[in-house]
Order: sequence, then C-alpha cells, then structure tokens
Amino acid sequence: MKKLLLLLLVGHQASAQTSTPLTAHLDKVKLTFALSADGRPTYAVNYGPKSVVNTSRLGLVFQDKQGFDGRLVLTGSEVKDVDETWQPVWGEVKSIRNHYQQLTVHLRQPAAPGRRVDVVFRVFADGVGFRYEVPRQLALGNFVVMDELTEFALPADHQAFWIPGDYDTNEYLYTKSRLSAVDNSAQVKGSGEIAVRSAPDAQAVATPLMLKADNGLYINIHEAAQVDYPAMQLHVDRASHRLTAQLVPNAVGSKAFLHAPARTPWRTIIVSDKAPKILASKLILNLNEPSKLPNTDWIKPLKFVGVWWEMQVGKSDWKYAESIDTLDAQGHLIPTGRHGANTANVKRYIDFAAAHQIPGVLVEGWNVGWEDWFGNWKERVFDFVTPYPDFNVPVLSAYAKSKNVSLLMHHETSGAATNYEQHLDTAYQFMNRYGYPSVKTGYVGRIIPRGEHHDGQWMSNHFARVAEMAARHHVTVDMHESVRPTGLARTYPNWLASEAGRGNEYNAFSIGSPPEHETIMPFTRLMGGPMDYTPGIFKLKGYSASAPERQVHTTLAKQLALYVTLYSPLQMAADLPENYEAHLDAFRFIEDVPVDWDDTRILAAEPGDYITTVRRAKGKDEWYLGSITDEQARQQPVKLDFLTPGRRYEAVIYADGKDADWQQNPASYQITRQIVTSKSTLTLRLAPGGGAAVSFKPVGAQKPS
Ligand code: NOJ
Ligand code: CA
Repeated sequence: MKKLLLLLLVGHQASAQTSTPLTAHLDKVKLTFALSADGRPTYAVNYGPKSVVNTSRLGLVFQDKQGFDGRLVLTGSEVKDVDETWQPVWGEVKSIRNHYQQLTVHLRQPAAPGRRVDVVFRVFADGVGFRYEVPRQLALGNFVVMDELTEFALPADHQAFWIPGDYDTNEYLYTKSRLSAVDNSAQVKGSGEIAVRSAPDAQAVATPLMLKADNGLYINIHEAAQVDYPAMQLHVDRASHRLTAQLVPNAVGSKAFLHAPARTPWRTIIVSDKAPKILASKLILNLNEPSKLPNTDWIKPLKFVGVWWEMQVGKSDWKYAESIDTLDAQGHLIPTGRHGANTANVKRYIDFAAAHQIPGVLVEGWNVGWEDWFGNWKERVFDFVTPYPDFNVPVLSAYAKSKNVSLLMHHETSGAATNYEQHLDTAYQFMNRYGYPSVKTGYVGRIIPRGEHHDGQWMSNHFARVAEMAARHHVTVDMHESVRPTGLARTYPNWLASEAGRGNEYNAFSIGSPPEHETIMPFTRLMGGPMDYTPGIFKLKGYSASAPERQVHTTLAKQLALYVTLYSPLQMAADLPENYEAHLDAFRFIEDVPVDWDDTRILAAEPGDYITTVRRAKGKDEWYLGSITDEQARQQPVKLDFLTPGRRYEAVIYADGKDADWQQNPASYQITRQIVTSKSTLTLRLAPGGGAAVSFKPVGAQKPS
C-alpha cells in the first residue's frame, strides 16, 4: 500500500513569463528550457559543470501538419518542488523518496488554430524526466502522431551498451561501442531464436541505452510510464552523437492515435558520476502513477520451479503429438511420448517444490495447440482452457494444494493478442477455479492484429489491458515477449515481471550469451523493471539433447549470485530437480534467498565488468549478497558495514572453487561458513565468468554495541 509520508508542494514561481531560457534544478542536475528564434522548443541538461545533453530539440509532428514542431510561443510556466515518500507493494527497498523540482512550460501556436501543448520537466538529484501534455482544448480533439522530434544531443562520442532498435524484440546480445560505431546491420540473431526481426534502421538502438562518457559520467536514457503510446527507440547520428526519438509504427505507418487531453510517456535521463547510483535510481518508478489497484494484499512475489528447462534443452516437448493432421482411427491426436506436461511428471516437480519450500510450479505445454502454434500467423490456436489428455487439471490442482504448492499458469498467445483478449475472462476464471495465482504469458511470433508490432501503441494498450484484467481476477502476471518495461509495475503491482530481453534460456537453445551479459542487463533492460531471467542452472554443460557442445556461460556460483544481482519479485529455479538433487548444498542458497526486500545497496558496479549487490530480506535482519564478474577473474573486497552493529551473523559463502572457470570447470564451487560482524570484511574471489553468493543470518544473543 502506498502511504504518503511527507508532501511538500510549493508553487514558488507562477508567472505569465514569456521569455526563455527557463531552468529547474536539484543538487547537481540542472535543466534548461528555451525556445529558439523560430519558435522551436529545446532543452539541455547539466550535471554540475558537465553537459549531459546539449541543446536538443523537442516537438511532435501530427498527421494534419499542425503539430508542435516549431513556430510556438511561450504563454507561461510554473515551478514547484515535491518531496514525498511512498511504499511499493514489493520491491528492492521498503520506501522510496520522490524528490524533484518540476518545471511546466505552456506553449501555443500563435496562428489559428492556436493549439496548446505543455512540456513538463521533473528534475531529480539523479536525472531528468520530461513529457508532452496536450491539454483539453477546443482547437484539438483527435490527433495522429506521425513523429516525435525529441532529441538527446550528446556532447561527445560516449561508450554505449546497445542492442538494435527492433520493433518486435529485445532479445539481442549487447554491443559495447562508441556511438560513432553504432551499426546494427551485422546483427543476426543466433540460431533457435524465434522472434521476428524488424529493425529497418541500421543506426537505431533500443532503450534503456547505457552510456559512459570519458569525463566520468554514466548516463542512462529510457522512458517511464509507456502506455497508450509506442515504445521509443533512438536513431544515432554517428557524426554528431545526436540521438533522435524514433517511435515504433502501427499497422498503417503512423505512430499514435490520441485524443486531447493526452500525454506521452516520460523521457528519462538518469545521470551520475558513479555507476552504482544508476542501478540504485528510482527515477523511473517515481515517474509512474501510483497503484491503480484498490487492494494489493493478494499480490505475492514468489520463487518457482517448472516443467520448462527440460523442453528448452530438448529433453521433452511442449506438444503432445507430432501434428494436428495425423489422427488415430478415433480422430484423436497420436502422442509422441515426449510430452513434458504430463500428470506424473508435473507431480515430480510438485514433490520437489514441496520438499524445498519453493512455492510455485510452472507448467508449459499443458494445453491444446502446440502442434501448430508457431510460424503460421494464425489467430485461433489456443483457447487457454483445454488441457491435453495426459494433463489432469483437477487432480494436479488438488495434489499441489495438498502439498502447499501453487501451480503457475502458462498462456502462450503465439502473438495473437486479439485471440487472447477474447479469452481473457474465461482463462482467468479457469485459473481462479483451479487455484492458479499467477500466469506467464508469451507473444512468440508476429502480432495479430496483423501489421502491429510488439512495441507499438496497440500492444502497449494490450499489455495494460492484460494487467488490468488479471488484477480483476487477483492474478499476477509475468509477460514474455512483451514490450520492455518502463516502471508500470508501480501502477499495476500484479505485473510482477517481464522477459523482454535475452534471458538464460538462450544458453539452452542458441549460442547463448557471453559472461559479461549479466553485468550489462541491470544497466539496460532492468532499468525499466524486473526480468524473469530464469537463473539457477546447475548442470552447466552437456544438457542439450541436440547440441552437446552448448554450455551456460557462467560458473555455478554465479548462477546463485544472479538471484541477488538481477532483481525480480518472481524468480525461477530453472534447472531440473535431478540437477538440483546433485548439489543440494548449493541449492540451499536458492531455498533461502528472498524475492522481496526492505533494503538494497549496490556495493560495486561497472557495466560490462562486474556488479556486487547486497539486499536485506523483507521484515527480517537477514542479508543476501550477490557478486558477479564478466570473463575476467577478480577479487572483490566487501565491507560488511551494512550489518547491524554489535550483532553477530553467520555468513554462508557460496564461492567459485579455486579451479573454477566458466568454460573449463564451471561446476567447481565451495561453501564456507564464517561468523562476521559489521566490522568484518570479506574478500570474494570470482573466477572467470564467476560469482559469489552470501547469506548473512544473525546468530546468538545481541551484544550491546
Ligand atoms: C519463449 C519464452 O521466453 C519461453 O520462456 C517459453 O518457454 C517459450 N516462448 C514458449 O512459450
Ligand atoms: Ca567486460
């Protein structure tokens, strides 16, 4: 529940000011707004004496050619200061400070029809958010956005961590390059990748875009509260380092159909001279609207196992039969005998979950349709309520309940969002009837309505509709192949996680992702919200039925550390029960690690190189630390001054073995125990592609400090 602790709202400048520049600032961050001589709105951002964004254009182009692209006059402006604190329903910290100075500028076309637009800037200590607000007005009702002119004119050729600006997927490997070298035309997706690539502009990158300047600044560009509007990508001008907003188009080639009053998502620029502060930023969440849900007590973050990795690695299959065109004499599908979601196998996972206090079991491939789900761009493939003959819903739901475990639902839509919307109500009623608290959705393949893209306006509204409909049925959601998040989980706290990035599964069915991948993810994909990354693979080699050379690109200890470094309220223990049973001592960390936190400290971080994060469990004085590295071995010293002074803790350290190496010897780990206090220091030795995970639990009586 959100509780307003302190609200300070001072309107200290309300004027009919008509000249620019106008400024707003907080600590080191300063925003300047100005109108150019020909009436084009511009802004610039500084961090202390350093320029973050040089004078950059703002504006919207409309289909009727009477948008806000120039010839505007300033009719007034206001500045106000806000300092409040709110409590997220779940999250990395217990409470969040929302402290900013807001500058609103009112602009108008001088000639008929005299349309009005506001640009609202919020300046935080760690960056700036701004959006366009089109007020209700006689001069404007319905309008069609053809383009957004927002620019980010960067002062130098920064290092960038980028993926292509694709209209349909974010499942790419990150490239680290100077902005002047951005070129996505060579990027072909690895084998086994199933989303459709649509990246017509070789110089377009997706957001969140992470930048590192030679002058020591770290800058992250993204957006907040993307609803009823397409996702923003950035076209990189390689010579000038100017980034220009590029909106994902709809089926008819425009960008957004809107009606005044309307507002765009916030464009966000997070900046700091310390990389950990980028990861700690709450700017994007703060720019989202508070929860829309009247009651959130039913929302439960959770860990789960599932009938899933075995299909990803080719040990079993989602589909029950080879084909819908080959039937037996009675007209039934002919089973292949490789169907993973069969009652006996699901019971095995339920038993494992119950024995290890894992609250959820995901089952994919339980429902009719998988023989024909992919590649045909068909609308009616799944109905989300018809199980295969070997998957007994009432029996399994009762069995799970008797073991205090929840079954988690899977709704693959195969991109047919229209079909899903028609079935949402019955599908969620079915979940309610059989006690499924949470659903994983999926949008593999091309979208229906045909011509729409995963990241366009239509789908952005679809994802919000799904979150709303799920909430009405007290269902939490994990959306795969959705648009990448922009902090909307604040508004829909039942939207626990999304995929929208290159998850651990790529190690199962493709060339995988190199060891630096997980050190980049928090600075990019995760800036907008949690990811269902599916960590926890223990059998790191020799798991693929078809490609024995495949391996996970981390050590086992690093798989544990990911539960802390990649924040999500929904975390899978993705490997097979038998692979966990071979390492139950290491699995203990997965059993223990929470998915909801009161506090988080980023102790060390550098994009592409390393991250060390420690978090305090919700409502407990227990801390969990994750430390990861890229392909380089590192020593990571950790001061334990986050622990309560005067209290003794048992630290259980899950570290890489002395001979561990992600490539040669990934499963080498060692577990040691040590009594520590807030005055202790640990030095973690991370192997190439390695990591360390540590739990700290208080022992004995509290010593007076
Ligand atoms: C892709 C998802 O990311 C994966 O988790 C899922 O198993 C398949 N689609 C099938 O829906
Ligand atoms: Ca690196």
